[in-house]
Amino acid sequence: MARILIVDDEEGLRDFMADTLELEDHQVDQARDGEAAWDLLLKRSYHLVLTDLKMPGLSGLELLRRVKDAQPETEVIVLTAHGSVDSAVEAMKLGAFDYLRKPLDSPTELRMIVGRALEHRGLRAIQEAAQDNVTEPPLSYGAPVMRPVIAALEKVSATDATVLLVGESGTGKEVAARSIHRWSRRAAGPFVAVNCAALSEQLLESELFGHEKGAFTGAHARRRGRIELAQGGTFFLDEVGELAPQLQAKLLRVLQERSFERVGGGQTVRADVRWVAATNRDLPAMIRDGRFREDLFHRLAVFPVRLPPLRRRPEDLIPLSRALLVRIGASLGRPGLVLSENAAQVIASASWPGNVRELANALERAAILADGRTIRADDLVLGSVGMATPVPPPTGPGDHVLSMAEAEKEAIRRALEHYDGNRRKAAEHLGIGLRTLYDKLKRYDLT
Ligand SMILES: Nc1ncnc2c1ncn2[C@@H]1O[C@H](COP(=O)(O)OP(=O)(O)OP(=O)(O)O)[C@@H](O)[C@H]1O
Ligand SMILES: [Mg+2]
Repeated sequence: MARILIVDDEEGLRDFMADTLELEDHQVDQARDGEAAWDLLLKRSYHLVLTDLKMPGLSGLELLRRVKDAQPETEVIVLTAHGSVDSAVEAMKLGAFDYLRKPLDSPTELRMIVGRALEHRGLRAIQEAAQDNVTEPPLSYGAPVMRPVIAALEKVSATDATVLLVGESGTGKEVAARSIHRWSRRAAGPFVAVNCAALSEQLLESELFGHEKGAFTGAHARRRGRIELAQGGTFFLDEVGELAPQLQAKLLRVLQERSFERVGGGQTVRADVRWVAATNRDLPAMIRDGRFREDLFHRLAVFPVRLPPLRRRPEDLIPLSRALLVRIGASLGRPGLVLSENAAQVIASASWPGNVRELANALERAAILADGRTIRADDLVLGSVGMATPVPPPTGPGDHVLSMAEAEKEAIRRALEHYDGNRRKAAEHLGIGLRTLYDKLKRYDLT
Protein backbone atom coordinates (compact mmCIF):
# COMPACT_ATOMS: atom_id res chain seq x y z
CA MET A 1 0.00 0.00 0.00
CA ALA A 2 1.33 3.38 -0.92
CA ARG A 3 0.20 6.93 -0.23
CA ILE A 4 -0.61 8.65 -3.49
CA LEU A 5 -1.64 12.23 -4.24
CA ILE A 6 -3.63 13.00 -7.38
CA VAL A 7 -3.63 16.58 -8.65
CA ASP A 8 -5.92 17.63 -11.47
CA ASP A 9 -8.59 20.26 -11.94
CA GLU A 10 -10.90 17.74 -13.56
CA GLU A 11 -12.91 15.99 -10.87
CA GLY A 12 -14.08 13.12 -13.07
CA LEU A 13 -10.53 12.21 -13.98
CA ARG A 14 -9.39 12.43 -10.36
CA ASP A 15 -12.18 10.12 -9.28
CA PHE A 16 -11.40 7.63 -12.00
CA MET A 17 -7.77 7.51 -11.00
CA ALA A 18 -8.55 7.40 -7.29
CA ASP A 19 -11.01 4.52 -7.76
CA THR A 20 -8.53 2.55 -9.80
CA LEU A 21 -5.73 3.03 -7.31
CA GLU A 22 -7.84 2.52 -4.22
CA LEU A 23 -8.91 -0.82 -5.58
CA GLU A 24 -5.23 -1.66 -5.53
CA ASP A 25 -5.24 -0.86 -1.84
CA HIS A 26 -3.43 2.41 -2.13
CA GLN A 27 -4.36 5.32 0.06
CA VAL A 28 -5.27 8.19 -2.22
CA ASP A 29 -5.67 11.92 -1.59
CA GLN A 30 -6.85 14.39 -4.17
CA ALA A 31 -6.19 18.05 -4.83
CA ARG A 32 -7.88 20.19 -7.44
CA ASP A 33 -4.94 22.48 -8.13
CA GLY A 34 -1.27 23.02 -7.45
CA GLU A 35 -1.77 25.19 -4.40
CA ALA A 36 -4.06 22.70 -2.69
CA ALA A 37 -1.58 19.93 -3.54
CA TRP A 38 1.31 21.86 -2.05
CA ASP A 39 -0.68 22.44 1.13
CA LEU A 40 -1.19 18.69 1.44
CA LEU A 41 2.43 17.97 0.65
CA LEU A 42 3.52 20.22 3.46
CA LYS A 43 1.38 18.25 5.88
CA ARG A 44 2.19 14.69 4.93
CA SER A 45 4.51 12.74 2.73
CA TYR A 46 3.50 10.74 -0.32
CA HIS A 47 5.18 7.89 -2.10
CA LEU A 48 3.85 9.10 -5.40
CA VAL A 49 2.30 12.24 -6.86
CA LEU A 50 0.29 12.15 -10.09
CA THR A 51 -0.13 15.67 -11.37
CA ASP A 52 -1.60 17.46 -14.34
CA LEU A 53 0.81 19.88 -15.95
CA LYS A 54 -1.57 22.59 -17.01
CA MET A 55 -3.46 23.96 -14.06
CA PRO A 56 -4.53 27.42 -13.03
CA GLY A 57 -2.24 29.00 -10.41
CA LEU A 58 0.70 26.87 -9.37
CA SER A 59 1.58 24.81 -12.46
CA GLY A 60 2.37 21.12 -12.54
CA LEU A 61 6.00 21.81 -13.46
CA GLU A 62 6.42 24.17 -10.52
CA LEU A 63 4.79 21.62 -8.23
CA LEU A 64 7.15 18.97 -9.55
CA ARG A 65 10.13 21.26 -8.91
CA ARG A 66 9.03 21.85 -5.32
CA VAL A 67 8.34 18.17 -4.63
CA LYS A 68 11.74 17.13 -5.96
CA ASP A 69 13.31 19.84 -3.89
CA ALA A 70 11.56 19.07 -0.64
CA GLN A 71 11.07 15.29 -0.88
CA PRO A 72 13.32 13.90 -3.61
CA GLU A 73 12.33 10.32 -2.81
CA THR A 74 8.73 11.03 -3.80
CA GLU A 75 8.07 9.87 -7.36
CA VAL A 76 6.10 12.14 -9.67
CA ILE A 77 4.16 11.12 -12.76
CA VAL A 78 2.82 13.96 -14.90
CA LEU A 79 -0.33 13.97 -17.00
CA THR A 80 -0.08 15.69 -20.34
CA ALA A 81 -2.69 16.60 -22.88
CA HIS A 82 -2.26 15.58 -26.52
CA GLY A 83 0.35 17.55 -28.33
CA SER A 84 2.26 18.90 -25.35
CA VAL A 85 5.22 16.56 -25.55
CA ASP A 86 7.58 19.44 -24.85
CA SER A 87 6.35 19.96 -21.34
CA ALA A 88 6.48 16.21 -20.73
CA VAL A 89 10.12 16.21 -21.76
CA GLU A 90 10.75 19.22 -19.54
CA ALA A 91 9.08 17.35 -16.67
CA MET A 92 11.28 14.31 -17.17
CA LYS A 93 14.33 16.55 -17.06
CA LEU A 94 13.12 17.93 -13.76
CA GLY A 95 12.96 14.42 -12.36
CA ALA A 96 9.48 13.17 -13.17
CA PHE A 97 9.42 9.39 -13.28
CA ASP A 98 7.24 9.17 -16.36
CA TYR A 99 4.28 10.77 -18.04
CA LEU A 100 0.77 9.66 -18.89
CA ARG A 101 -1.06 11.00 -21.90
CA LYS A 102 -4.57 12.36 -21.58
CA PRO A 103 -7.29 11.40 -22.18
CA LEU A 104 -6.69 8.56 -19.83
CA ASP A 105 -9.19 5.81 -20.18
CA SER A 106 -7.40 2.59 -19.46
CA PRO A 107 -7.10 1.63 -15.81
CA THR A 108 -4.53 -0.96 -16.86
CA GLU A 109 -2.11 1.62 -18.17
CA LEU A 110 -2.51 3.67 -15.02
CA ARG A 111 -1.92 0.64 -12.82
CA MET A 112 1.14 -0.41 -14.77
CA ILE A 113 2.82 2.95 -14.63
CA VAL A 114 2.00 3.45 -10.96
CA GLY A 115 3.27 -0.06 -10.25
CA ARG A 116 6.54 0.71 -11.98
CA ALA A 117 6.97 4.03 -10.20
CA LEU A 118 6.40 2.46 -6.80
CA GLU A 119 8.72 -0.36 -7.57
CA HIS A 120 11.30 2.17 -8.61
CA ARG A 121 10.93 4.06 -5.41
CA GLY A 122 11.61 0.81 -3.70
CA LEU A 123 9.10 -1.35 -2.01
CA ARG A 124 11.54 -1.40 0.84
CA ALA A 125 10.90 2.23 1.65
CA ILE A 126 7.17 1.63 1.71
CA GLN A 127 7.58 -1.29 4.04
CA GLU A 128 9.76 0.72 6.33
CA ALA A 129 7.13 3.41 6.41
CA ALA A 130 4.52 0.79 7.17
CA GLN A 131 6.68 -0.47 10.00
CA ASP A 132 7.22 3.07 11.21
CA ASN A 133 3.51 3.27 11.39
CA VAL A 134 4.54 1.11 14.29
CA THR A 135 2.06 -0.09 16.75
CA GLU A 136 -0.39 -2.51 15.28
CA PRO A 137 -3.53 -2.05 17.31
CA PRO A 138 -4.35 -4.65 19.94
CA LEU A 139 -6.72 -7.22 18.48
CA SER A 140 -9.13 -7.01 21.38
CA TYR A 141 -9.90 -5.23 24.61
CA GLY A 142 -10.90 -8.24 26.63
CA ALA A 143 -13.94 -9.67 24.88
CA PRO A 144 -14.13 -13.30 26.05
CA VAL A 145 -14.77 -14.64 22.52
CA MET A 146 -11.47 -13.12 21.42
CA ARG A 147 -9.29 -14.80 24.02
CA PRO A 148 -8.98 -18.22 22.39
CA VAL A 149 -8.58 -16.50 19.01
CA ILE A 150 -5.63 -14.44 20.18
CA ALA A 151 -4.07 -17.39 21.97
CA ALA A 152 -4.26 -19.41 18.75
CA LEU A 153 -2.77 -16.59 16.69
CA GLU A 154 0.10 -16.20 19.14
CA LYS A 155 0.88 -19.90 19.09
CA VAL A 156 0.80 -20.23 15.34
CA SER A 157 2.93 -17.12 14.93
CA ALA A 158 5.86 -19.00 16.37
CA THR A 159 5.67 -21.51 13.50
CA ASP A 160 5.83 -21.18 9.73
CA ALA A 161 2.44 -22.83 9.28
CA THR A 162 0.07 -21.42 6.71
CA VAL A 163 -2.84 -19.60 8.34
CA LEU A 164 -6.30 -19.08 6.87
CA LEU A 165 -8.18 -16.18 8.45
CA VAL A 166 -11.92 -16.28 7.94
CA GLY A 167 -14.54 -13.85 9.09
CA GLU A 168 -17.03 -11.30 7.91
CA SER A 169 -15.94 -8.18 6.14
CA GLY A 170 -14.31 -5.64 8.44
CA THR A 171 -13.62 -8.02 11.33
CA GLY A 172 -9.89 -7.28 11.29
CA LYS A 173 -8.47 -10.07 9.15
CA GLU A 174 -5.73 -7.85 7.83
CA VAL A 175 -4.93 -6.53 11.30
CA ALA A 176 -4.67 -10.16 12.44
CA ALA A 177 -2.40 -11.03 9.52
CA ARG A 178 -0.05 -8.20 10.40
CA SER A 179 -0.05 -9.29 14.03
CA ILE A 180 0.98 -12.81 13.01
CA HIS A 181 3.87 -11.31 11.06
CA ARG A 182 4.91 -9.03 13.89
CA TRP A 183 4.85 -11.86 16.42
CA SER A 184 6.78 -14.23 14.19
CA ARG A 185 10.50 -14.77 13.71
CA ARG A 186 10.03 -13.15 10.30
CA ALA A 187 9.06 -9.82 11.87
CA ALA A 188 12.20 -8.11 10.57
CA GLY A 189 11.40 -9.29 7.03
CA PRO A 190 8.83 -7.75 4.73
CA PHE A 191 5.07 -8.09 5.03
CA VAL A 192 3.63 -8.09 1.54
CA ALA A 193 -0.09 -8.16 0.85
CA VAL A 194 -1.92 -8.82 -2.37
CA ASN A 195 -5.62 -8.43 -2.75
CA CYS A 196 -6.87 -11.14 -5.06
CA ALA A 197 -10.14 -9.30 -5.74
CA ALA A 198 -8.62 -6.04 -6.87
CA LEU A 199 -6.80 -7.04 -10.02
CA SER A 200 -7.65 -8.70 -13.29
CA GLU A 201 -6.41 -12.25 -13.70
CA GLN A 202 -3.49 -11.39 -15.95
CA LEU A 203 -2.35 -8.46 -13.86
CA LEU A 204 -2.62 -10.46 -10.66
CA GLU A 205 -0.54 -13.24 -12.14
CA SER A 206 2.29 -10.89 -13.01
CA GLU A 207 1.91 -9.06 -9.68
CA LEU A 208 2.32 -12.33 -7.80
CA PHE A 209 4.94 -14.08 -9.87
CA GLY A 210 6.61 -11.25 -11.74
CA HIS A 211 7.46 -11.56 -15.40
CA GLU A 212 10.35 -11.77 -17.77
CA LYS A 213 11.00 -9.10 -20.32
CA GLY A 214 8.71 -9.58 -23.31
CA ALA A 215 6.39 -12.04 -21.53
CA PHE A 216 3.41 -10.07 -22.86
CA THR A 217 2.65 -6.75 -24.52
CA GLY A 218 3.79 -4.04 -22.18
CA ALA A 219 6.34 -6.18 -20.34
CA HIS A 220 9.25 -3.96 -21.24
CA ALA A 221 11.57 -5.23 -18.59
CA ARG A 222 11.90 -8.10 -16.19
CA ARG A 223 9.92 -7.45 -13.09
CA ARG A 224 10.06 -9.23 -9.77
CA GLY A 225 6.71 -10.37 -8.41
CA ARG A 226 5.43 -9.71 -4.94
CA ILE A 227 6.15 -13.23 -3.78
CA GLU A 228 9.79 -12.59 -4.59
CA LEU A 229 9.67 -9.26 -2.81
CA ALA A 230 8.34 -11.01 0.29
CA GLN A 231 11.37 -13.31 0.62
CA GLY A 232 12.15 -13.92 4.25
CA GLY A 233 8.89 -12.36 5.31
CA THR A 234 5.16 -12.96 5.30
CA PHE A 235 2.93 -13.06 2.26
CA PHE A 236 -0.70 -12.07 2.82
CA LEU A 237 -3.18 -13.31 0.22
CA ASP A 238 -6.21 -11.19 0.89
CA GLU A 239 -9.66 -12.20 -0.39
CA VAL A 240 -8.29 -15.48 -1.59
CA GLY A 241 -11.80 -16.71 -2.42
CA GLU A 242 -11.76 -14.41 -5.46
CA LEU A 243 -8.81 -16.12 -7.07
CA ALA A 244 -9.50 -17.27 -10.65
CA PRO A 245 -9.31 -21.05 -11.28
CA GLN A 246 -6.11 -20.89 -13.30
CA LEU A 247 -4.36 -18.90 -10.57
CA GLN A 248 -5.68 -21.28 -7.92
CA ALA A 249 -3.85 -24.05 -9.72
CA LYS A 250 -0.69 -22.00 -9.98
CA LEU A 251 -0.79 -20.98 -6.34
CA LEU A 252 -1.32 -24.57 -5.29
CA ARG A 253 1.90 -25.48 -7.03
CA VAL A 254 3.79 -22.72 -5.24
CA LEU A 255 2.48 -23.86 -1.89
CA GLN A 256 3.41 -27.46 -2.63
CA GLU A 257 6.80 -26.85 -4.14
CA ARG A 258 7.77 -23.66 -2.35
CA SER A 259 9.06 -22.32 -5.64
CA PHE A 260 7.69 -20.87 -8.86
CA GLU A 261 8.59 -19.40 -12.23
CA ARG A 262 8.09 -15.84 -13.42
CA VAL A 263 5.53 -15.33 -16.17
CA GLY A 264 7.20 -16.08 -19.48
CA GLY A 265 10.33 -17.48 -17.90
CA GLY A 266 11.85 -20.85 -17.12
CA GLN A 267 14.02 -20.00 -14.16
CA THR A 268 12.85 -21.38 -10.83
CA VAL A 269 12.59 -18.93 -7.95
CA ARG A 270 12.40 -20.10 -4.37
CA ALA A 271 9.50 -18.81 -2.29
CA ASP A 272 10.82 -18.41 1.22
CA VAL A 273 7.66 -16.89 2.62
CA ARG A 274 5.17 -17.57 5.34
CA TRP A 275 1.67 -17.67 3.90
CA VAL A 276 -1.36 -16.08 5.48
CA ALA A 277 -4.62 -16.03 3.53
CA ALA A 278 -7.93 -14.38 4.31
CA THR A 279 -11.46 -14.54 3.01
CA ASN A 280 -14.97 -13.56 3.95
CA ARG A 281 -16.32 -16.26 1.64
CA ASP A 282 -17.62 -19.66 2.62
CA LEU A 283 -14.86 -21.66 0.95
CA PRO A 284 -16.36 -25.11 1.67
CA ALA A 285 -19.53 -23.96 -0.10
CA MET A 286 -17.45 -22.67 -3.00
CA ILE A 287 -15.73 -26.04 -3.15
CA ARG A 288 -19.12 -27.77 -3.37
CA ASP A 289 -20.07 -25.43 -6.23
CA GLY A 290 -16.83 -26.16 -8.00
CA ARG A 291 -15.57 -22.60 -7.66
CA PHE A 292 -12.65 -23.24 -5.31
CA ARG A 293 -10.15 -26.06 -5.42
CA GLU A 294 -10.38 -28.43 -2.51
CA ASP A 295 -6.67 -29.27 -2.64
CA LEU A 296 -5.78 -25.56 -2.42
CA PHE A 297 -8.18 -25.13 0.46
CA HIS A 298 -6.42 -27.85 2.43
CA ARG A 299 -3.04 -26.28 1.73
CA LEU A 300 -4.27 -22.89 2.94
CA ALA A 301 -6.33 -24.07 5.87
CA VAL A 302 -3.48 -25.79 7.66
CA PHE A 303 -4.35 -23.54 10.58
CA PRO A 304 -7.75 -21.88 10.18
CA VAL A 305 -8.74 -19.05 12.50
CA ARG A 306 -12.21 -17.51 12.54
CA LEU A 307 -12.49 -13.89 13.63
CA PRO A 308 -15.79 -13.27 15.37
CA PRO A 309 -18.05 -10.44 14.19
CA LEU A 310 -18.15 -7.29 16.28
CA ARG A 311 -21.69 -8.04 17.50
CA ARG A 312 -20.27 -11.02 19.38
CA ARG A 313 -17.63 -8.81 21.02
CA PRO A 314 -19.79 -6.28 22.89
CA GLU A 315 -17.10 -5.87 25.56
CA ASP A 316 -14.74 -4.52 22.89
CA LEU A 317 -17.11 -1.93 21.44
CA ILE A 318 -16.43 1.07 23.62
CA PRO A 319 -12.70 0.61 24.31
CA LEU A 320 -12.21 -0.12 20.61
CA SER A 321 -14.13 3.03 19.73
CA ARG A 322 -11.86 5.04 22.02
CA ALA A 323 -8.76 3.56 20.43
CA LEU A 324 -10.12 4.27 16.96
CA LEU A 325 -10.82 7.85 18.02
CA VAL A 326 -7.19 8.30 19.01
CA ARG A 327 -6.17 7.21 15.53
CA ILE A 328 -8.84 9.31 13.86
CA GLY A 329 -7.95 12.35 15.97
CA ALA A 330 -4.32 12.02 14.95
CA SER A 331 -5.15 11.76 11.27
CA LEU A 332 -7.55 14.71 11.40
CA GLY A 333 -5.12 16.74 13.45
CA ARG A 334 -7.68 16.88 16.27
CA PRO A 335 -6.32 15.03 19.27
CA GLY A 336 -8.37 14.45 22.40
CA LEU A 337 -11.64 13.33 20.85
CA VAL A 338 -14.02 11.80 23.38
CA LEU A 339 -17.40 10.08 23.26
CA SER A 340 -20.40 11.47 25.07
CA GLU A 341 -22.40 9.10 27.25
CA ASN A 342 -25.21 9.03 24.70
CA ALA A 343 -22.89 8.47 21.80
CA ALA A 344 -21.44 5.48 23.64
CA GLN A 345 -24.97 4.17 24.06
CA VAL A 346 -25.73 4.56 20.37
CA ILE A 347 -22.57 2.62 19.57
CA ALA A 348 -23.37 -0.09 22.07
CA SER A 349 -26.87 -0.61 20.70
CA ALA A 350 -26.10 -0.54 16.97
CA SER A 351 -25.48 -3.83 15.20
CA TRP A 352 -22.39 -3.00 13.04
CA PRO A 353 -22.87 -5.44 10.20
CA GLY A 354 -19.77 -3.92 8.59
CA ASN A 355 -17.86 -4.65 11.80
CA VAL A 356 -14.77 -2.66 12.84
CA ARG A 357 -14.48 -1.01 9.44
CA GLU A 358 -18.01 0.35 9.68
CA LEU A 359 -17.47 1.47 13.26
CA ALA A 360 -14.26 3.27 12.29
CA ASN A 361 -15.93 4.99 9.35
CA ALA A 362 -18.91 6.05 11.45
CA LEU A 363 -16.59 7.47 14.09
CA GLU A 364 -14.54 9.33 11.54
CA ARG A 365 -17.61 10.94 10.01
CA ALA A 366 -18.91 11.78 13.47
CA ALA A 367 -15.57 13.34 14.38
CA ILE A 368 -15.73 15.51 11.28
CA LEU A 369 -19.24 16.61 12.15
CA ALA A 370 -18.55 17.18 15.84
CA ASP A 371 -17.99 20.80 16.77
CA GLY A 372 -15.65 20.36 19.68
CA ARG A 373 -13.79 17.45 21.15
CA THR A 374 -16.89 15.63 22.28
CA ILE A 375 -18.65 13.34 19.86
CA ARG A 376 -22.37 13.37 20.51
CA ALA A 377 -25.02 10.85 19.62
CA ASP A 378 -26.32 13.22 16.97
CA ASP A 379 -22.98 13.38 15.21
CA LEU A 380 -22.96 9.62 14.98
CA VAL A 381 -26.50 9.24 13.77
CA LEU A 382 -26.31 12.13 11.31
CA GLY A 383 -23.05 10.88 9.93
CA SER A 384 -24.11 7.28 9.51
CA VAL A 385 -27.18 6.86 7.44
CA GLY A 386 -26.25 3.24 6.86
CA MET A 387 -25.64 2.52 10.50
CA ALA A 388 -28.46 2.33 12.96
CA THR A 389 -31.13 3.06 10.40
CA PRO A 390 -33.76 0.46 11.05
CA VAL A 391 -35.65 -0.83 8.05
CA PRO A 392 -38.93 1.09 8.10
CA PRO A 393 -41.81 -1.01 9.44
CA PRO A 394 -44.48 -1.96 6.96
CA THR A 395 -47.07 0.80 6.85
CA GLY A 396 -49.75 -0.61 4.66
CA PRO A 397 -51.02 -3.85 3.26
CA GLY A 398 -49.02 -3.26 0.06
CA ASP A 399 -45.67 -3.05 1.84
CA HIS A 400 -43.64 -6.07 2.54
CA VAL A 401 -41.01 -6.57 5.17
CA LEU A 402 -37.55 -6.42 3.66
CA SER A 403 -35.00 -9.13 4.21
CA MET A 404 -31.51 -7.98 5.22
CA ALA A 405 -30.29 -8.60 1.70
CA GLU A 406 -33.12 -6.56 0.20
CA ALA A 407 -32.51 -3.73 2.64
CA GLU A 408 -28.83 -3.78 1.83
CA LYS A 409 -29.47 -3.80 -1.88
CA GLU A 410 -31.90 -0.92 -1.49
CA ALA A 411 -29.43 1.08 0.61
CA ILE A 412 -26.75 0.60 -2.02
CA ARG A 413 -29.10 1.54 -4.84
CA ARG A 414 -30.12 4.74 -3.07
CA ALA A 415 -26.58 5.70 -2.18
CA LEU A 416 -25.46 5.25 -5.78
CA GLU A 417 -28.40 7.25 -7.00
CA HIS A 418 -27.66 10.00 -4.53
CA TYR A 419 -24.03 10.25 -5.59
CA ASP A 420 -24.73 9.92 -9.31
CA GLY A 421 -23.12 6.54 -9.47
CA ASN A 422 -19.90 7.64 -7.76
CA ARG A 423 -18.96 4.37 -6.07
CA ARG A 424 -16.35 5.76 -3.80
CA LYS A 425 -18.65 8.35 -2.32
CA ALA A 426 -21.45 5.80 -2.05
CA ALA A 427 -19.16 3.36 -0.23
CA GLU A 428 -18.01 6.09 2.12
CA HIS A 429 -21.60 7.05 2.85
CA LEU A 430 -22.60 3.44 3.45
CA GLY A 431 -19.69 2.93 5.80
CA ILE A 432 -18.19 0.08 3.82
CA GLY A 433 -14.95 -0.28 1.90
CA LEU A 434 -14.87 0.27 -1.83
CA ARG A 435 -13.99 -3.37 -2.37
CA THR A 436 -16.87 -4.53 -0.27
CA LEU A 437 -19.14 -2.32 -2.36
CA TYR A 438 -17.83 -3.83 -5.59
CA ASP A 439 -18.40 -7.26 -4.08
CA LYS A 440 -21.97 -6.46 -3.22
CA LEU A 441 -22.64 -4.89 -6.60
CA LYS A 442 -21.54 -8.13 -8.13
CA ARG A 443 -23.55 -10.19 -5.69
CA TYR A 444 -26.76 -8.20 -6.18
CA ASP A 445 -26.23 -7.72 -9.88
CA LEU A 446 -26.38 -3.95 -9.56
CA THR A 447 -24.67 -1.71 -12.04
N1 LIG B 1 -8.48 -4.43 16.83
C1 LIG B 1 -8.52 -3.36 16.05
N2 LIG B 1 -8.11 -2.17 16.52
C2 LIG B 1 -8.15 -1.07 15.74
N3 LIG B 1 -8.60 -1.07 14.48
C3 LIG B 1 -9.03 -2.21 13.96
C4 LIG B 1 -9.02 -3.43 14.71
N4 LIG B 1 -9.53 -4.40 13.93
C5 LIG B 1 -9.83 -3.83 12.77
N5 LIG B 1 -9.53 -2.52 12.77
C6 LIG B 1 -9.71 -1.56 11.69
O1 LIG B 1 -10.92 -1.89 11.01
C7 LIG B 1 -10.76 -1.83 9.60
C8 LIG B 1 -11.03 -3.20 9.01
O2 LIG B 1 -10.03 -4.10 9.42
P1 LIG B 1 -9.37 -5.12 8.40
O3 LIG B 1 -9.07 -4.45 7.11
O4 LIG B 1 -8.28 -5.83 9.08
O5 LIG B 1 -10.63 -6.08 8.21
P2 LIG B 1 -10.90 -7.24 7.18
O6 LIG B 1 -11.46 -8.36 7.96
O7 LIG B 1 -9.67 -7.46 6.39
O8 LIG B 1 -12.04 -6.60 6.29
P3 LIG B 1 -12.43 -6.85 4.75
O9 LIG B 1 -12.94 -8.25 4.65
O10 LIG B 1 -13.46 -5.82 4.52
O11 LIG B 1 -11.18 -6.65 3.97
C9 LIG B 1 -9.36 -1.33 9.36
O12 LIG B 1 -9.41 0.07 9.21
C10 LIG B 1 -8.63 -1.69 10.65
O13 LIG B 1 -7.56 -0.81 10.90
MG1 LIG C 1 -9.32 -7.10 4.33
